Amino acid sequence: MSNTLGIIGFGNIAKAIVTPLLEKKILNPDQVLCLVKSEKSLENIKNTYPYKINIFRVNSSESKLVWDSPVKLLSVKPQQFEDLIEEKFNEKEENIIVSILAGISLKKLEEKFHNHIFVRAVTNIPILVGKGLTGITWGSSISDSQKNFIRKIFSSSSKIYELPEDYLDIFLALTSSSPAIIALIIDSLSDGGLSGGLNKKLSEELVIEMILGTILLLKESNLGTADLKNMVTSPGGTTISALNVLEKRTFRSALIEAIIAARDRSKEFR
Ligand SMILES: NC(=O)c1ccc[n+]([C@@H]2O[C@H](COP(=O)([O-])OP(=O)(O)OC[C@H]3O[C@@H](n4cnc5c(N)ncnc54)[C@H](OP(=O)(O)O)[C@@H]3O)[C@@H](O)[C@H]2O)c1
Repeated sequence: MSNTLGIIGFGNIAKAIVTPLLEKKILNPDQVLCLVKSEKSLENIKNTYPYKINIFRVNSSESKLVWDSPVKLLSVKPQQFEDLIEEKFNEKEENIIVSILAGISLKKLEEKFHNHIFVRAVTNIPILVGKGLTGITWGSSISDSQKNFIRKIFSSSSKIYELPEDYLDIFLALTSSSPAIIALIIDSLSDGGLSGGLNKKLSEELVIEMILGTILLLKESNLGTADLKNMVTSPGGTTISALNVLEKRTFRSALIEAIIAARDRSKEFR
């Protein structure tokens, strides 16, 4: 990669995307040009980020350099989107904005920024450990070499799924919101262990290891989820007693409705 990568908003998620690119030397630190809003963030990144990237404050004299990058990652919070101002930049290149903002549509991006082509990427928090999932929707006019460059940006930290834009809201609900649901399930199951007399730390460790093992079993065997459920549910046994409680409390429909609620909330941002 010879081009620079501009990053508008260098927060948690942008760092998680960019750090593996620097670690694997797919990008050199001098190819990364970032913008943040506050002096505090600027100083913090300068003092603590392990790579000497170029980092500037928005509206500073150097911020044009970030906008001059042919590919820019837009990674502010959705609530900060309206405050963004497109700066003057070198328009000779074909400029791309890759937005990771939840729910902000290609149409909204096109209305806000000019002389750019757009890509939407929905990623999730496990990118922090290189196990993310990223859904990508290509705007019009993106060339194959530009697509490859963008795939490279995300593939260091995640698996990529290329989808039509209409599916991004449900992709987000299922992949970006669900880590919170899984964390809640782990916390609740380990409270169950606590209620049965184990300490919380051990309970949580057991639940996490059980989930890891269950997932590996599902991935590495030909078992479907129903097969696995039937394997561990014997007549009149302990597991069916547990499942009966969940059925009574409408656990399954609560989860289905939770995903649909997250999808609908994402649609409201459009
Ligand atoms: N959190 C998740 O689980 C998750 C998962 C996938 C995708 N996302 C998406 O990732 C995006 C970023 O989330 P995050 O958690 O990384 O946010 P974050 O840590 O708050 O980072 C936001 C960054 O944007 C900067 N910023 C704010 N206003 C700006 C402006 N006008 N111009 C330039 N930079 C500006 C902030 O600078 P200051 O620090 O100086 O304010 C900060 O560096 C969100 O849109 C979210 O939808 C989040």
